[in-house]
Amino acid sequence: MEKYDFSAVTDRRHSGCVKWDDEYHDDLIPMWVADMDFPTAPCVVRALADRVAHGVYGYEHVPESYYESVSRWFESRHGWHIGEEEILPATGLLPALVAILHRGHTLLHGEGEPTAKGVKVIMQMPAYNGFLHCLADNGVELTGNAMRCTEGKYTIDWEDLERKADGQRGGIMLFCNPHNPTGRVWTRNELERVADICRRYDLLLISDEIHGEVMPLGGQYIPMATLDGVRDRLIVFTSPGKGFNLAGTGISNVIVPDASLRKRVSSALEAMLVTDVGVFGVTALQAAYNEGAEWLDAVNRYIGENYRFLCAYITEEMPRLRVTPLEGTYLAWVWHGAYPYTSAEMERKLMNELHVRVSAGTFYGKEGEGYMRVNLACPRSQLEEGLRRMKTLFV
Ligand SMILES: Cc1ncc(COP(=O)(O)O)c(C=O)c1O
Repeated sequence: MEKYDFSAVTDRRHSGCVKWDDEYHDDLIPMWVADMDFPTAPCVVRALADRVAHGVYGYEHVPESYYESVSRWFESRHGWHIGEEEILPATGLLPALVAILHRGHTLLHGEGEPTAKGVKVIMQMPAYNGFLHCLADNGVELTGNAMRCTEGKYTIDWEDLERKADGQRGGIMLFCNPHNPTGRVWTRNELERVADICRRYDLLLISDEIHGEVMPLGGQYIPMATLDGVRDRLIVFTSPGKGFNLAGTGISNVIVPDASLRKRVSSALEAMLVTDVGVFGVTALQAAYNEGAEWLDAVNRYIGENYRFLCAYITEEMPRLRVTPLEGTYLAWVWHGAYPYTSAEMERKLMNELHVRVSAGTFYGKEGEGYMRVNLACPRSQLEEGLRRMKTLFV
């Protein structure tokens, strides 16, 4: 018997919630935005309630104990030793990314204009839509490294990456591990090859590890910073936002192992005021990292069961769909290419006809055509209802 009940439905409607209220229907089943429909860990709720009871929410410094919480968490949970000085708190990872892109010409070598315009970024495609927006809206030159997909398994196209990296010397590799939207958790060998390419072609490596706490089928993601020989060009993004469902509290961390690079990143974040984190984010993160491990394990197990449920349901009832094997994240990447609709058409049909909202594969670039991304972080009854409705379309 689980200590935590993830099957209970929490009504999020009319709460200003993006996932439920963006395009409202009374009977909506939202399976799109990457947040969970579960309340966060009880230890976080308690810590926030205590902080609320204090009543004064003025300007505050991030306390020393915050850095200890982050460092202890990654050491014990992921075998990654982070010096407390390496941790730069930030209000969000996308704001941090934009701030960094604006110093993209100067971060590695300290020379160049402080503008994102013309900064070169290489990224595996399909890619998280938030990245695509940040790059496009700030004049960054994106070079896509389309992944290969063989019998449902996504891998990096190394030849293509090597060629493109050669043309992008001095630029940035924006890497995502675990990978949104394909659900890949990269192996040590793959990470080593990425790091090696960044070294040889003089690329700054940003490793976004926000989904690293979401390992619903067990296993461990490997933090890039635990590899040798890349720490001098590495910026890591971490956050309790996904694992503990804290996106709305605006807290995350940018970890920069190398002191000289850190100085530049820190000044980039400060210039854009990304370091001004709020009291509730700080409180929530510390409670999560100090006391939330057991809850996180439990929520991962529940999501793992949801994934198995989805696979079994699709095999039984909608065998022309194909589920990409999930390794990490709570986002299932489902191929619907056997049906005569584009991803965008499929997304609209599901929404307009069935009030089921998924993310069209092409939100993540043209490489996502024929796919939809389905969020599994919800009570099973909700997942089941979404699938039951989908069945009427995917006959
Ligand atoms: C890979 C990745 N990075 C960053 C974010 C957003 O991070 P934040 O809310 O801290 O800006 C997301 C949200 O879905 C994500 O999937």
